[in-house]
Amino acid sequence: MSSINYSEKIPNNVNLVNDRTLQRALEHWQPKFLDWWREMGPTDFQANDVYLRTAVSVDADGWAQYGAVKMPDYRWGIFLADAVADRTIGFGDQMGEPAWQQVPGEYRSTLRRLIVTQGDTEPASVEQQRLLGHTCPSLYDLRNLFQINVEEGRHLWAMVYLLHAYFGRDGREEAEELLARHSGDADKPRILTTFNEPISDWLSLFCFTYFTDRDGKYQLKSLAESAFDPLSRTCRFMLTEEAHHMFVGETGLGRVVKRTLEVMKEIGSDDPAKIRLAGAVDLPLLQKYLNFWCSSSLDLFGSEISSNSAANFANGLKGRPDESGYEDHVLREQTLALPTPEGVEKVPMLNALNEVMRESYIKDCEIGLRRWNRAIERAGHKDLLLKLPSSRFRRSIGTWAGRTVDPAGKAIDKDAYESRLKDWIPNGDDQVFVHSLMKQVAEPGKMAGWIAPPDRGINNLPVEYEYVKLH
Ligand SMILES: [Fe+2]
Ligand SMILES: [Fe+2]
Repeated sequence: MSSINYSEKIPNNVNLVNDRTLQRALEHWQPKFLDWWREMGPTDFQANDVYLRTAVSVDADGWAQYGAVKMPDYRWGIFLADAVADRTIGFGDQMGEPAWQQVPGEYRSTLRRLIVTQGDTEPASVEQQRLLGHTCPSLYDLRNLFQINVEEGRHLWAMVYLLHAYFGRDGREEAEELLARHSGDADKPRILTTFNEPISDWLSLFCFTYFTDRDGKYQLKSLAESAFDPLSRTCRFMLTEEAHHMFVGETGLGRVVKRTLEVMKEIGSDDPAKIRLAGAVDLPLLQKYLNFWCSSSLDLFGSEISSNSAANFANGLKGRPDESGYEDHVLREQTLALPTPEGVEKVPMLNALNEVMRESYIKDCEIGLRRWNRAIERAGHKDLLLKLPSSRFRRSIGTWAGRTVDPAGKAIDKDAYESRLKDWIPNGDDQVFVHSLMKQVAEPGKMAGWIAPPDRGINNLPVEYEYVKLH
């Protein structure tokens, strides 16, 4: 087991102290990161004590320590999962050969691009969420938001470490750029579209953590398979932290559903206008949020047919999530029947891996929906069950991009699509209403009226615990 040295400026389990040059380079980047955090991280709240978990080991049991921390004092560090002895490449044309401890020259720019693209999403999400603290539905939720924010900051560190340690000067320049691009910036936006969408309300945050952080999980899982061993080990540990982000999304949306059902019962009506008047989120409105964030996140997997993903797989750079669960790890002989607007196309499996990944992601997304729908059914509202939109709906990337398809997946004409879109994704009125619900609730244990309390608190503490000390 590798322990983490906390006495160093940058906590790490990569023996930074033995690599002076790397240590100096990272210590040079550290104050720039902190400046970025102060400028682009959560607005205010920097002086408040927050009950946060900090990674203190990469051990499966007991990797985190909990305690009150002011966010700028969070110990962002570099933690790699333990090395697997004699690890070999698990897929692609070099399957069975030893995993790489250095970057092979021929894959250098592709690997750098993969790491930069992943790294860019981490600070982007912090920027997207920076105003939300002011409208938190409870201190419990406020703490969860900040937990996610500091951990996304640490994920940036994880990628910056790889850039500095393995990509020389180019890597250091990329690390600077990761702090220079900003979410939604007109001149220097973040790389991926979804990470430029503003997140100005908590319903969006819960959808983002449910759908977009789950895309993160799938990307990390596929990079955890990489033949480049330091990348694999970095991503394996990031996945441990990532699980909490999706937990926030799934339980957050579940609590919204629960509260809405309570309100429907109280007022004895399923009329959306009456539910809104009672200060809760009607289920058709929640459905629109799901439609928006699900479709936006599906684009993150890329085109259905992709020669890049084929090359990345064949070369051992990026595998499929849970690669060991598949039988064929080379895929030179397989094809996939891919539905396209022009009909079903038979494509080499290697070129269809984005789609393979997207399909397993969608299955994972359905798990939470089933849980929420059970509650909706139990409350006697079978007609209001929630659904994922069709993967063809509102796509901007791939073979369905720009096609006018309804959320059920049916092609419709452009006029009909444009006039119905306001019924399928949040429209101006919906956003105004949701924003009207966003009022800060900051008394320990109290919840905003549109969300039910969580079943339990953090780390066995009661829900009423003062997770953020605001005064
Ligand atoms: Fe992350
Ligand atoms: Fe995350």
